Amino acid sequence: MTDLPPFHNEPVLELRRAAHRDELLAGLAWLQERLPLPAPIWIGTERREGRELISTDPADPERVVATAPVATPLEVSAAVSAAEQGYRRWSAVPAHERAAILSRAAAWLRARRATLAALCVREAGKPWAEADADVCEAIDFLEFYARGAVALARGRALFQVPGERNGLHYAPRGVVAVVAPWNFPIAIPAGMVAAGLATGNAVVLKPAEQTPLCGFVLVEALRDAGVPPDAIGLLQGDGDTGAALIGDPRVATIAFTGSSAVGLEIMRTAADVVSGQKQLKRTVIEMGGKNCVIVDADADLDDAIPAIVRSAFDYAGQKCSAASRLLVHEALADDLLERLSGAVDVLQVGPPDTFGMEVGPVIERTARERVARYAQQAAASGTVVAHRVPAERPQRGWYCPPIVIADVDPAAPVLREEVFGPLLTVERVASVEEACDRVDELPFALTGGLFCRNPDTVERVVARTPVGNLYVNRAITGAMVGRQPFGGNRLSGTGTKAGGPDYLLHFVEPLVVTENTVRHGLVV
Ligand SMILES: NC(=O)c1ccc[n+]([C@@H]2O[C@H](COP(=O)([O-])OP(=O)(O)OC[C@H]3O[C@@H](n4cnc5c(N)ncnc54)[C@H](O)[C@@H]3O)[C@@H](O)[C@H]2O)c1
Repeated sequence: MTDLPPFHNEPVLELRRAAHRDELLAGLAWLQERLPLPAPIWIGTERREGRELISTDPADPERVVATAPVATPLEVSAAVSAAEQGYRRWSAVPAHERAAILSRAAAWLRARRATLAALCVREAGKPWAEADADVCEAIDFLEFYARGAVALARGRALFQVPGERNGLHYAPRGVVAVVAPWNFPIAIPAGMVAAGLATGNAVVLKPAEQTPLCGFVLVEALRDAGVPPDAIGLLQGDGDTGAALIGDPRVATIAFTGSSAVGLEIMRTAADVVSGQKQLKRTVIEMGGKNCVIVDADADLDDAIPAIVRSAFDYAGQKCSAASRLLVHEALADDLLERLSGAVDVLQVGPPDTFGMEVGPVIERTARERVARYAQQAAASGTVVAHRVPAERPQRGWYCPPIVIADVDPAAPVLREEVFGPLLTVERVASVEEACDRVDELPFALTGGLFCRNPDTVERVVARTPVGNLYVNRAITGAMVGRQPFGGNRLSGTGTKAGGPDYLLHFVEPLVVTENTVRHGLVV
């Protein structure tokens, strides 16, 4: 047995270097020649292809990226049955061997990172830097949880007394159902799946219907690396498939990342114990947010403006951590609005496969319509401060011009609901306390930001904030595995922190063994 080397984050590519850009373009050319590709259902060694789901390029919806079937109820049940079988074998594999296999899956992704980044560009409309970061984060999750599971397998020390031996160790729970979103199409499923597998569970993955091929390549990586086929299954389909999977009574743990409406529905279903069910379902639920950034009167706008623009508009605002409300001290609000408007007016909006593009399309037509609806509603009571409509507007694709709207009616839904697109609202506040009150009124509590120069203010905001991740004097997106364990509170999630030291505990059951060690005679 060889120990894995210490964890480090996979370095992202330096896109200013021509060699790195060429590497990515070669990956895109390789992929492009092969599209569209099938993204099958994969249960044990059986694969089924189909054309019920058509995944298209958000930047050019006529380009088909992948075709996929929709799992039937029988296939959902078969996938769970296979995973039940797979669980027996995989849970018996020692933690360090499972870790070595996950690390090999990370190496598989690393060796193909250019093609996989290109796939994120095509299937999810991610600009290059974001696409590369997605692959790096997937690698990080595999490597991080592999090591974490080895540490967890050592158990915990308990109090010992003479004549008694106490041990605490962690056992896997059984079948994990993973239901994933499209916005980190490789990284997020990789994280949830890796946590389940590293701790000895069998996993059935249902990727988002918008990104079935990204889900497929992840399962391919794991199987090629040595995860037995029945320990990792793949279902394709939409919400109904997800609902059927999480509703199966044999599922022990549900790991879900997605919208709040769906997350809450999953929690209700999971709470229902049906006839024949032997185990309470545990839910690991990560949901949406309404992320606020507070800017105090002493903030350094040279720092704040670029960080706010990145937080609100990178990947067209489609990160769960993205900034959507800016709460600015009235003393510098006019200055900030003027500079923010200038910064948004020069954003590079266009095809994500062009280097240097900062804002690509949103994922699909309904997303564009949703953002437009919120923008219209916000503009009805507020002032449009910036609206970045590029001179050469792309002819195709679900592009949505980045927009900043100030002084919106406080009762407007746009201030409370998740928009999930390139729309930022700005409000004036008389103090940081007032800003904290507004944050506190929200049921969401995912990420938050603060720009200020006074350490006392930082302390006050830290003490009051309900959010799961607070970023001070920096962008509020881009959490790194191991450095910024990530996850929300309140209606944003169950408080689990992906990429953190406690995450794996959600996938295991503690078992305490107590042995009387005083001998009462020898058995010979
Ligand atoms: N908190 C986080 O870490 C985090 C990270 C990324 C995205 N998100 C959130 O995800 C959302 C965007 O992703 P989305 O549009 O894919 O979310 P979504 O909730 O629409 O879908 C997520 C997944 O759930 C499935 N699904 C839909 N209905 C279901 C049901 N009734 N039962 C079971 N599964 C069902 C979908 O098919 C998909 O695979 C945003 O709200 C964003 O904030 C949160």
